[in-house]
Amino acid sequence: MNSVKWLIRMLLIFFLSHFSISADTITLDHFIQDDNDEVIVSDGNRFALGFFSPGISTNRYVGIWYYQVPVKTPVWVANRDNPINDTSGVLRIDGRGNLSLFQGNQTLFPVWSTNISTADAGNSFAQILDSGNLVLIQNDTGKAVLWQSFGYPTDTWLSLMKIGFSLRTGLNQSYTSWKSPDDPGVGNISFRMNPGVSPQMVLYKGSVPVWRSGSWTGKIWSGIPEMTQNVLFNDSFVNIDDEVSFSSDTNSVIFTGIVGQMVSVTLI
Ligand SMILES: *[C@@H]1O[C@H](CO)[C@@H](O)[C@H](O)[C@H]1NC(C)=O
Ligand SMILES: *[C@@H]1O[C@H](CO)[C@@H](O)[C@H](O)[C@H]1NC(C)=O
Ligand SMILES: *[C@@H]1O[C@H](CO)[C@@H](O)[C@H](O)[C@H]1NC(C)=O
Ligand SMILES: *[C@@H]1O[C@H](CO)[C@@H](O)[C@H](O)[C@H]1NC(C)=O
Ligand SMILES: *[C@@H]1O[C@H](CO)[C@@H](O)[C@H](O)[C@H]1NC(C)=O
Ligand SMILES: *[C@@H]1O[C@H](CO)[C@@H](O)[C@H](O)[C@H]1NC(C)=O
Ligand SMILES: *[C@@H]1O[C@H](CO)[C@@H](O)[C@H](O)[C@H]1NC(C)=O
Ligand SMILES: *[C@@H]1O[C@H](CO)[C@@H](O)[C@H](O)[C@H]1NC(C)=O
Repeated sequence: MNSVKWLIRMLLIFFLSHFSISADTITLDHFIQDDNDEVIVSDGNRFALGFFSPGISTNRYVGIWYYQVPVKTPVWVANRDNPINDTSGVLRIDGRGNLSLFQGNQTLFPVWSTNISTADAGNSFAQILDSGNLVLIQNDTGKAVLWQSFGYPTDTWLSLMKIGFSLRTGLNQSYTSWKSPDDPGVGNISFRMNPGVSPQMVLYKGSVPVWRSGSWTGKIWSGIPEMTQNVLFNDSFVNIDDEVSFSSDTNSVIFTGIVGQMVSVTLI
């Protein structure tokens, strides 16, 4: 009897500690505070979401980074052009169901917000996924995705993220470098899908195009002949009335912006 009780207690301790360590959601009741070093971590421990200061900066930003890489390497930044100047930041589901970042005791004017007009007050939660995607979910039977960080890339193109635009969703998914290693604000290098008869991916320095992918041949980008070697990436090019986009399932980073330049990592 005693040993059964002991076993149950150990199991309870295991489950309780397990849940407190691995929370991957922000709910109305569970928010994260910079002051307390709080983060949420994806189910398989791949990505974490929390507060960070880049380089020598003391400014605070909300970002997503690889949980198991010792040097914090942000792949996405929420308030990239609106830093918080102290550690009073709080990221929470606000009264209208948006995921919003507030400074100090502020509750009305967020520093950053998902700002989704259809959010159902008190009925949404945010979750960090193993893909690196932060999603805002309507907590009903349909579990509709109201907003996702993959829709608003910063400088890092992860597997399964898109580059392109959609008239239906109004999203224009492009990648822009940080201003400097100490400032994740929008820099002057960008990588985006250009519309046209044969859409192509173009890398810009300021307004000057410095590299083009060439057009999509049906299998590869004509400007990246090396791509033929990799047919396993499940590349998906969409060119229909209201959407032009490309994504790839490389299971790693495709492009990343390093101060002043974009560095290709995979695709080939
Ligand atoms: C920090 O930011 C707050 C809000 O924007 C501002 O009122 C305050 O003056 C800033 N403090 C410093 C030290 O810059
Ligand atoms: C927030 O409010 C509490 C209680 O009113 C106060 O003690 C605290 O200093 C405030 N924090 C900030 C950052 O303004
Ligand atoms: C929310 O969206 C509105 C309309 O697009 C915009 O004017 C406002 O600045 C946005 N607020 C935040 C905090 O992003
Ligand atoms: C949040 O959601 C509401 C709708 O529920 C919307 O009207 C509002 O503009 C959104 N943004 C902010 C910053 O509150
Ligand atoms: C979603 O709603 C259900 C039913 O109300 C609730 O039990 C659950 O805790 C909610 N999940 C989150 C993450 O808020
Ligand atoms: C997408 O955004 C970029 C940068 O703001 C802009 O130059 C480009 O024209 C936009 N593309 C579309 C299709 O709206
Ligand atoms: C881009 O930004 C860097 C650093 O801020 C600057 O040195 C460079 O002149 C800028 N280039 C263009 C084309 O604006
Ligand atoms: C390729 O993409 C399709 C459509 O998104 C998906 O159903 C399929 O599982 C993917 N295959 C692999 C090997 O990732």
